[in-house]
Amino acid sequence: MSSSPPTLPLFIRLAGQPVLVVGGGRVAARRIERLIKAGACVTVVAPRADTRIQAWHEARRLVWHERAANAADVDNQRLVFALTDDHVANADIAAAARAAGVLVQRADDADGSDFLTPAVVRRESLQIAIASDGTAPTLARILRARLEAWVPRAYGELATLAGAYRERVRQRLPQSQRAAFWLRVLDGPIAEQVFAGRLSQARQALDHALETAQTAAEGDTGEVYLVGGGPGDPDLLTFRALRLMQRADVVLYDSLIAPAILDLVDADAERIHVGKRASRHTLPQEDINALMVRLARAGRRVLRLKGGDPFVFGRGGEEISQLAEAGIPFQVVPGITAASGCAAYAGIPLTHRDYAQSVTFVTGHLKEGALDLSWQQLAQPGQTVVFFMALKSLPIICAALQTYGLAADWPAALVIDGTTARQRLVVGTLADLPARAARLTIDGPTLLIVGEVVRLHETLGWFRPAGVPEPDSRT
Ligand SMILES: C[S@@+](CC[C@H](N)C(=O)[O-])C[C@H]1O[C@@H](n2cnc3c(N)ncnc32)[C@H](O)[C@@H]1O
Repeated sequence: MSSSPPTLPLFIRLAGQPVLVVGGGRVAARRIERLIKAGACVTVVAPRADTRIQAWHEARRLVWHERAANAADVDNQRLVFALTDDHVANADIAAAARAAGVLVQRADDADGSDFLTPAVVRRESLQIAIASDGTAPTLARILRARLEAWVPRAYGELATLAGAYRERVRQRLPQSQRAAFWLRVLDGPIAEQVFAGRLSQARQALDHALETAQTAAEGDTGEVYLVGGGPGDPDLLTFRALRLMQRADVVLYDSLIAPAILDLVDADAERIHVGKRASRHTLPQEDINALMVRLARAGRRVLRLKGGDPFVFGRGGEEISQLAEAGIPFQVVPGITAASGCAAYAGIPLTHRDYAQSVTFVTGHLKEGALDLSWQQLAQPGQTVVFFMALKSLPIICAALQTYGLAADWPAALVIDGTTARQRLVVGTLADLPARAARLTIDGPTLLIVGEVVRLHETLGWFRPAGVPEPDSRT
């Protein structure tokens, strides 16, 4: 880590300002392109120049002096870029610039530069600059590539729309209400309309929001985001989930939500654990539903964060039907269900042309000690059956599938704590899997996968967290 103090990020207006670039290679051409876009009056001094620099010179977009630079070139410049591949030449220009009181950047020496050029993600007037104070420019470029993928293209249009309304909002709303108004617009349904390409609807909605802003700001109803948090690995969250996690001001979460995921919720958001791990319910379902309605009515943005996908054995449908009845706005964000997450991380494809032409998700949750399932259907070959909440009922399931026709050596596997650093895989058959499981201490969430695809883990297994034993399939 550099021991110097950190740099100060600034965006400089350079339109009409004189800027000197010493050097005519590719690095110089890249900088010059950005300088020309910023409207700078660029002078290049270099004995030879890249073809793009020559073309800009011919098009009179810069002035090129075809010679080596000297100290007098820095006179009257606002910024100097020393971008030759000659260390001594760069040092001489930097010394001359400093002597003349002009800020200088050297291509060959970040510490010897007065300013650095960040990697930039640009969306019209919106710019995100990433810099590492010269310690790891490649890391800054990698991050830029990630942001390019993550920041929707339409953010530029959103920024343009906001710019067009800025003055009207300033005139209509007192300063105390403006930040909250813009937060609602730029991070709510109006922004989503822009992202979906519905610009004229977004404008209408913005006009309406502005008309009603003063009254709405007081008695505003909040909204609820029913969000799937995926099976455990935070990298498996969707972009939208992450965005809403950072917007919410209160989060209601289940026991299955990993701490690493909860850490991604806005630091100021209130956190309410509403529980639900098999029979250890923290809050009854009706109370959770009522709490969401009450919080949203109080104007809060409520994040209902559930494990996996909220519509797969998650009671998500019940929760939002209460909201719909109460007239509370909501949106649902799918998550990666444990079935897909565990299958992928265990190297078990849920379908396969040769072994499984369909996949069924079933609950193994016992009701009064029994399981009422369509065993005839589940015991057919040529398919994969994934049982959720099936640890307690494992012996019943394995016995029933054999009774209804599957062979005793039909493959079956348990994935425990799937997709996390604690993931364990127990591979066996319908005959021996219950005994294998009984020998282990299992307290994490566990998924049962039944079908011939299970065998593929031997060749396709790729995720082996450090310290976790190889799949138990031999004993
Ligand atoms: C109430 S269900 C919720 C399912 C969730 N909505 C989903 O789509 O994954 C809880 C069950 O999901 C399964 N499960 C969830 N996360 C898991 C994980 N990381 N590893 C294994 N099984 C998991 C277990 O069978 C657990 O008992």
